[in-house]
Amino acid sequence: MSIINGWTVTNTSAYQNLSYKLLDPEIRQSSAIGAQVQLPPGMPILGDTTRSLFRNQVVVMRKQKGIDPTVLPKLAKVFDPHATDIHSAGERAVSNPKNILSAYKAGRIPRAPQVGIIGSGAFHDYEGLKEWEIVHLDHTSFHETPLDQQELDNGYTRPCRWHMDTAFYERLPGEVTILHSVLVPNLPDQKIKFSNGKEKQIAAGATAFFSGAHFALNTTVTYAPQAYEYIRQCKASEDGLTIPVFGREAPLEKLSEWSWDRVAEHPIVWRNPLNPDRPFLQVHGCCVYRLTTRDPSTGEITVIDDVAKVREVVYNLQRKIYAAENIYAHRWEEGDLVIFHNRGVMRSITGQLAQYQKEKNKKRLLWQCTMTSNVSPKPFREHEDVNDTGYVRV
Ligand SMILES: [Fe+2]
Repeated sequence: MSIINGWTVTNTSAYQNLSYKLLDPEIRQSSAIGAQVQLPPGMPILGDTTRSLFRNQVVVMRKQKGIDPTVLPKLAKVFDPHATDIHSAGERAVSNPKNILSAYKAGRIPRAPQVGIIGSGAFHDYEGLKEWEIVHLDHTSFHETPLDQQELDNGYTRPCRWHMDTAFYERLPGEVTILHSVLVPNLPDQKIKFSNGKEKQIAAGATAFFSGAHFALNTTVTYAPQAYEYIRQCKASEDGLTIPVFGREAPLEKLSEWSWDRVAEHPIVWRNPLNPDRPFLQVHGCCVYRLTTRDPSTGEITVIDDVAKVREVVYNLQRKIYAAENIYAHRWEEGDLVIFHNRGVMRSITGQLAQYQKEKNKKRLLWQCTMTSNVSPKPFREHEDVNDTGYVRV
């Protein structure tokens, strides 16, 4: 192994001339997220990229324009041997208006149904899709008190909703998600304001990531049945982490058909497959429903099933991490292939791209490959009387 111009070059026979480096310190700040990988032509993506992904959670490959969409599911399976060929949101794009995920009007690529099309603008005859208008969702449709027009005009944006890619119902989250940028509009940067007065300058439409830390090792979270329908009338806090006002949740009997055995239950802190000593707080603060905690010394079990209280507890864990220096905001360049650890980072859409929806040269197009897994996230800490999803045996 040698270091040339800041790139670590591996020269074992298996990984001849593969090189990778951490993203610049001023971009990573305190996030512990982000590395760039350069592959020599014809080299398979294997060991070192996998190590780099699970160490840095987000791996960026530049200049991959022209790749075939059918490559993305194959690439995801390099990192996730348990990935199924089913998109994490289901066989078809979500179109049920009861589910808030339908608002993206996302399409699927017919020859690669595991790959969604997201972005901004109208497209014709693209990948077998005749007419397609994609909407860039932003915080204005989801936050309780969105930015006002003057703040928007001054270039401010917010993270829309922090999440990992999973439906929280019926299907398990995949280990990785891959995003690939096909078309990136050239737009001025935007800014996010934090509650301590700090501001962070990010690219318009950056995908923002943060990673969790050492909390709540003995707690299991139960997500709301049909979680994205349950919160469809709810609005988020300005940091996109939680729902501050309780009372607009859809009544359980009004949701699409559901049963408790299909409701998602996961540990709050997940185990990293290549680094079992490093805990990851992975919890979707808007979709939570119930917390079950076991005291490891006494075995005593505490259940919090007041949804407002559950949200408050989870928010108090995550709000400490939500700070300018802990966020990696990916500045998209056309051709980027970004692989990220779906079970190791929370992420959010940012940006106010919808204002350019009708402008021909300001369209955006990304491919997104996220496949449901057939293996549950493992709890960071295992106990005899906790089952393998981290759920307490009662
Ligand atoms: Fe996502």
